Amino acid sequence: DHVRVKASATSANLGAGFDVLGIALEDPYDIIEVRPAKELTIKVEGRGAASIPQEPEKNTAGVVALEMGKNVSIKIKSGIRPGSGLGSSAAPAAGTAVAINELFSMGYTKEELVWIAAKGEKAAAGSIHADNVAPCILGGITVVCGNYVNSIDVPEMGIVAILPDIIVSTKVAREVLPKTVPLEEMINNIGKASMLMLGAGKKDPHIIGRSLMETFNEKYRSRFIKGYSDVKDAAMELGAYGVAISGSGPTMIALSPVEKCSSIADAMRKKFTLHGVDSEAYITCTGKGVQII
Ligand code: HSE
Repeated sequence: DHVRVKASATSANLGAGFDVLGIALEDPYDIIEVRPAKELTIKVEGRGAASIPQEPEKNTAGVVALEMGKNVSIKIKSGIRPGSGLGSSAAPAAGTAVAINELFSMGYTKEELVWIAAKGEKAAAGSIHADNVAPCILGGITVVCGNYVNSIDVPEMGIVAILPDIIVSTKVAREVLPKTVPLEEMINNIGKASMLMLGAGKKDPHIIGRSLMETFNEKYRSRFIKGYSDVKDAAMELGAYGVAISGSGPTMIALSPVEKCSSIADAMRKKFTLHGVDSEAYITCTGKGVQII
């Protein structure tokens, strides 16, 4: 009589893939339980619950249920801090889309569910974007381009996600971006995004890591993250493949060999501390997409 899913954090952009690329993480995650009901209700508990709207029209999961035309009660146990750059609004939307599809045997494909979940994202971000819901549902590394969406498996690698105690509004982080970029910058960004996909295709995490840095996103947004370059250098000195801002920040992700993750996480957090910034760390790996549990 109910379906319960685990919907994980995601990291959009992956350096150069602004609004296009995303990667699924295993941790942190939300647990979402959906059951048929007389009317649509949403209950949120856990991380940041007080700041998450529970009215269906304003909640990303609620918008998805409305879009799918089902009266359900949705219970969200939130594990992803709102405003972290880790897809906190995408996970409930993606998880709810998968759960309702399963509960009512609606027969949507995963790709179709991505577009339904993307409509839910509009409730949080004001615009439809799928660069977090795509990896959340499909897993791995995803590409969203116009109405195309697909995913690719990634080579084995660890992911360190450091969430500093800094607030970055996605809206403000978008306002600082230039509307046009010089040719040279476009070439660099296309090069980096291409390298990333080449690294995924060749299953070479070194190429993926190298592609993450000196991108458009980093250039205009690292200013919001106090200590950014020191924290990044600390990870690189200890053998990270590469470091990037997760989505619009403030989380920074370091792709690393699995065995180096915990020392890299410690070093990154210590650097933040030196800059007077508290932080928390997630040591994880690439996620497989929403799981029914
Ligand atoms: N790609 C968006 C941005 C945010 O960087 O502004 C995340 O979905």
